[in-house]
Parts: sequence; structure tokens; C-alpha cells
Amino acid sequence: MLSLKNICYHPSTAEKPILRDLCLKSNTEKITVVRGASGSGKTTLLEIISGLSGYQKGEIKWFNKTLNARQRRRLCGLVFQFPERYFLGLSVAQELRLGRKRLTTEEQVSTLTKVGLINLDLKNPPESLSGGQQRRLAIAVQLLRSPKVLLLDEPTAGLDWSVRNGILELLAKLKEKQTILIVTHEPELFKNLNTENFELHDGRLIPL
Ligand SMILES: Nc1ncnc2c1ncn2[C@@H]1O[C@H](COP(=O)(O)OP(=O)(O)OP(=O)(O)O)[C@@H](O)[C@H]1O
Ligand SMILES: [Mg+2]
Repeated sequence: MLSLKNICYHPSTAEKPILRDLCLKSNTEKITVVRGASGSGKTTLLEIISGLSGYQKGEIKWFNKTLNARQRRRLCGLVFQFPERYFLGLSVAQELRLGRKRLTTEEQVSTLTKVGLINLDLKNPPESLSGGQQRRLAIAVQLLRSPKVLLLDEPTAGLDWSVRNGILELLAKLKEKQTILIVTHEPELFKNLNTENFELHDGRLIPL
């Protein structure tokens, strides 16, 4: 169980607080889906949970243990919005090895199978994959780090609907093992998954 208690975040460069007394509990029972207008702080929330950003007040716990930023970076796998823009590997195999250096070919193939990528040529550049395949590859890279919590920033953005359905099916499968938190502009897409829905508004999470 991931829990956030009274998280406040007000960077000195921002005019007003971005998150105010934000509380959240998330576990493997339901996928947490957070909607919110552009600029409401959705990405900032994921950056804080995953330990990429600090915060001024509050507590983030995994079960009963309060975690510092380093521990949160270990706990979480963050898939950025449009992750395919940040591929670094020259091949699919290299991209996967960013998640774990000493990965065997068998392990690469089994991870790709987990995200529904089969019969891929591991020597091909990530850019040669289709949009949906690239999204799955980005998720696979994070899965290799065995994160307890998977954080997804707009996982369906920019994908056509048949590809989106594939991503939704993948999330439903991953949910068995991982705590999943999604932030999105298109929450209605996730309505057939077992979700708990919130709206981020004025720095607070409102249950829907
Ligand atoms: N370090 C910072 N300094 C100043 N302002 C910041 C900082 N970090 C975030 N913000 C501001 O906080 C607000 C929330 O940004 P964020 O990117 O989290 O929103 P979002 O909900 O993800 O938006 P979108 O839907 O467009 O992706 C924005 O107005 C942004 O400019
Ligand atoms: Mg964002």
C-alpha cells in the first residue's frame, strides 16, 4: 500500500502552491486514475512520488515505512508522457539493458513477452517500432527494475484506439502484481478497468 499524507509542494519559482495537503492511498486492488486540467499538477505528483522531486511537508509511506527520495526511486517505475522521445539505446536490446545491465537474451525476450512484444528483432533500433510497441518497450524497461509501484504519465496519449486497447489490456494484466497509478487527460478510456478515480484540482485530490 502506497500512501501519501498531507503532501505540500510549493517550489520557490511558482507563484502559488502546486500541491496542498494532498492525500492518497493506492494498492493492487484497484488502478488509481487521476484526472486534472492541464497544469493542475499531475506530472508533478508523479515526480514527487517517484522521488525525482522533493516536497515541503507531508509523508510518503510504503506500508508502514516512511520513504526518502532515494527509496522512492527504487520503489517506483515512472513511464514519462511520450516515453519514446527519450529512448537512449541504439537497439531494443540496449534500451532494455538500461533497466538492468547484465540482462540475458532470454530475460529480454521474456520481459518483452510480458508486455506483449513477441518476435521482435532485438537488434533493431527502438525507433523502428510502431507507436504502441514503443510505449510497451518503455513499460518493459521499467518492469525490469521490478518496481512495486508503476507510475504512468498519459499512457494512452497520441495512440490510435486499437493500440490504446492493447495498452489497457496490458495494464489490466500488470495490475495483478503492481500498484499502478495513472495520470491522464482521458480518464473515460480506463472505465472498463477496475479503477479508483480522483480529480486533481487546486492542489488537492478529490475522490470521484
Ligand atoms: N519547479 C517548478 N517551478 C515553478 N512552477 C512549477 C514547477 N514545477 C511545476 N510547476 C508548475 O506547476 C503546474 C503543474 O505542472 P504539471 O506539469 O505537473 O501539470 P500537469 O497537470 O501535468 O499538466 P499537463 O496536463 O499539461 O501535462 C504548472 O503550472 C507548472 O508550470
Ligand atoms: Mg503533465
